[in-house]
Amino acid sequence: MALTRFTAGATGTWQIDRILAVTGPSLATAERLEVSALPRTVSPESAWMLSGATSYKRYTERSEQAALVAVQPALGRPEARCAALIPITKTARWWDLPQDERRAVFEETSHHIAVGLEYLPAVARQLYHSRDLGEPFDFLTWFEYAAGDASAFEELLARLRTSREWDYVEREVDIRLSR
Ligand code: HEM
Repeated sequence: MALTRFTAGATGTWQIDRILAVTGPSLATAERLEVSALPRTVSPESAWMLSGATSYKRYTERSEQAALVAVQPALGRPEARCAALIPITKTARWWDLPQDERRAVFEETSHHIAVGLEYLPAVARQLYHSRDLGEPFDFLTWFEYAAGDASAFEELLARLRTSREWDYVEREVDIRLSR
């Protein structure tokens, strides 16, 4: 399995501008973040390391997938000098729901994809799954955007965080980065 590791410490491509605990406990502060595909041991200097794997789609339907593919940008655009790493854990109540009810909360009620699409192509994104790896978070979500799109990204977050889906979020840390 190809893992992506987010290591906070003294080195790394991204400068950590702030770490904010949205729900539940925060993460330790650090200067920089390294995003790496290589398996590496936790160095003594690192403040924390989170790992996740890209995976198959759980909720996206064909028409939504087509709409996403038509507009979503790749990661690593040179102008996208801002990033957010937002690790998220959902409640046991969420995981106890059957698949069809999770999908209904996610899209029919909360419009996660429809809302998210309004912010593409400004925001590039990647979802990593951590729950089955025994990690502290269920998901690691990663976003890249240009400084001029920062307020649009805040608006997107505010809309998602007031949706029904977020009633099922028990831990969320919002880490902002720049390069
Ligand atoms: C930029 C616009 C966004 C778009 C287009 C988007 C789209 C999507 C899509 C299509 C999925 C479902 C993947 C699947 O079928 O398994 C998903 C899942 C997810 N997204 Fe977003 N998203 C956006 C922004 C965000 C933001 C800002 C956050 C966090 C603050 C977020 C957090 C998540 C999480 C945690 C999941 C996993 C949900 C679960 O499996 O329970 N997304 N997103």
